[in-house]
Amino acid sequence: MKKVLVTGGCGFIGSHTIVDLIENGFEVISADDNSRSSAYPLLGIEQITGKKVKNYQVDLKNFDETLAVFQENPDIVGVIHFAAYKAVGESVEKPLLYYENNLFGLVNLLKCVQEFSVPHFVFSSSCTVYGNPDALPVVETSPIKKAESPYGATKQMGEEIIRNFSGSAQTSSILLRYFNPVGAHPTAIIGEQPLGKPQNLVPAITQTAIGKIPRLVVHGNDYPTRDGSCIRDYIHVCDIASAHTLALLYLIDQRNASACDVFNLGTGNGVSVLEAIHAFEKVSGVQLNYEIGPRRSGDVVAVYANNEFAVKGLNWQIRYDLDDMMRTAWNWELKIRKAEEAVKSN
Ligand code: WQD
Repeated sequence: MKKVLVTGGCGFIGSHTIVDLIENGFEVISADDNSRSSAYPLLGIEQITGKKVKNYQVDLKNFDETLAVFQENPDIVGVIHFAAYKAVGESVEKPLLYYENNLFGLVNLLKCVQEFSVPHFVFSSSCTVYGNPDALPVVETSPIKKAESPYGATKQMGEEIIRNFSGSAQTSSILLRYFNPVGAHPTAIIGEQPLGKPQNLVPAITQTAIGKIPRLVVHGNDYPTRDGSCIRDYIHVCDIASAHTLALLYLIDQRNASACDVFNLGTGNGVSVLEAIHAFEKVSGVQLNYEIGPRRSGDVVAVYANNEFAVKGLNWQIRYDLDDMMRTAWNWELKIRKAEEAVKSN
């Protein structure tokens, strides 16, 4: 079996990608310092796939610790790099924390990839690199605008670092630009575990519906959109996960057009905040308690993908629609509540 290193394997998208990789015949190891995740998802991965995944609890900013993972696993054929901080608001408050963690970690990892001649590298990028797009839907050649946050800047710089590295090394890379990953695994055994009060819309919806948050605030309904609220391209985390496996196979089969190909991972459908809320209410049967509040600084009005390049290039099939996204997110929230109540009753 081909061995793949997933950094950030205990995180939301990392854990779902590990499930998909195993289900497609790969052997997987994880490197996650658990600074913003727990080891729990690894148990969930084992429950779903029957496979135990080893996690190396290393800080990628520590070169020697990171190199030791490669020394112990010289047969790694691919690296999928998720490990990074991703809270837009926090990055504005603590820019140096984001530049240090996201970029130092990436450079150390690439130095190991180079030292061990790892042939394939897949990078977790984001539609954030497009900023406030001039035209919609965005395509991979759409202009890269000034980043709206230091978080977005680390994704833009990360892409450039990988582009330069891949051109000079024996490694072929892929940059995957996610739109808005949401939902949870259909088994509700793994899902999103936001730290503290969720900033992202869907966990904020489900935590409001379950009563953890008293009321959802819609950040503005006076935008120039069909209902005044911002438009995004929400995409199920399992569809994001399958795209990573397909991206690795695309590189292994040497179907890549360049040393560093780029793909948009979105459904191509723009959905407003109010439409997302109503979809949730429909599938959950819960009347959501929300109010309209002020705009959130840094929000783009609308962004959604042209995903044709990924669909055709990666043979990618999108399997989950908006109702599935809301249903799986809600089932996961209900599962968390059940687990919390079981702990309380013990
Ligand atoms: C979506 C819409 C909010 C919460 C960010 C990052 C992006 C990626 C995904 C990492 C916006 C509105 C939200 C709430 C609301 N992260 N909203 N009330 O900002 O599009 O993308 O997360 O890769 O890089 O930029 O996602 O879910 O935070 O917001 O009205 O309580 O929901 O204003 O219009 P966003 P989001």
